[in-house]
Amino acid sequence: MKQRGVTVWFTGLSGAGKTTISQAVSKRLVDAGCKLEILDGDIVRTNLTKGLGFSKEDRDENVRRIGFVSTLLTRHDAIVLVSAISPYRDIRNEVRERVGNFVEVFVNAPLSVCEDRDVKGLYKKARTGEIPNFTGVSDPYEAPENPEIECRTDLESEEESVEKVISTLKEMGYLLED
Ligand code: ADX
Repeated sequence: MKQRGVTVWFTGLSGAGKTTISQAVSKRLVDAGCKLEILDGDIVRTNLTKGLGFSKEDRDENVRRIGFVSTLLTRHDAIVLVSAISPYRDIRNEVRERVGNFVEVFVNAPLSVCEDRDVKGLYKKARTGEIPNFTGVSDPYEAPENPEIECRTDLESEEESVEKVISTLKEMGYLLED
């Protein structure tokens, strides 16, 4: 498989499935011989954006720095898989403009489903107030208005979500059969 540089940006609530889908997409692409990098909020926050919190300002700074690295990698023909809640529309659109080759994936499951899953036990803590400003509970999430892809992870299988991403990358000319 040949590739053109692109940033695939997974946005959505905590527990919606951003990391799961991006890792599965990564596996498919690596198996097909693609060069890629993953920038995951949970990991990036331990290095590139270490020390930032969860105010609007800090979240926007987190997203801006991830966007900066994505721009550099994309320019060098890498496929960049970003997964970050990235709750604010304006900064996502700012990054979109800057990167150019940008595919937004809205990883969407209702809050009640994410909360039932509570993979990391954070929703419970958010409800008791132990974690303040928690996205979806006590902090906003602005859904994308025109994402290239929407994955309804409460209604479709992981394989279906992955297939949507791969087929869109092919349709948009970022992945080409050898
Ligand atoms: S973002 O809003 O700046 O894009 P990012 O995706 O990097 O967020 O980090 C979100 C992760 O931080 C969550 O998956 C969760 O593990 C953790 N986290 C800790 N506090 C919060 C909070 N107040 N709101 C959301 N996530 C939080």
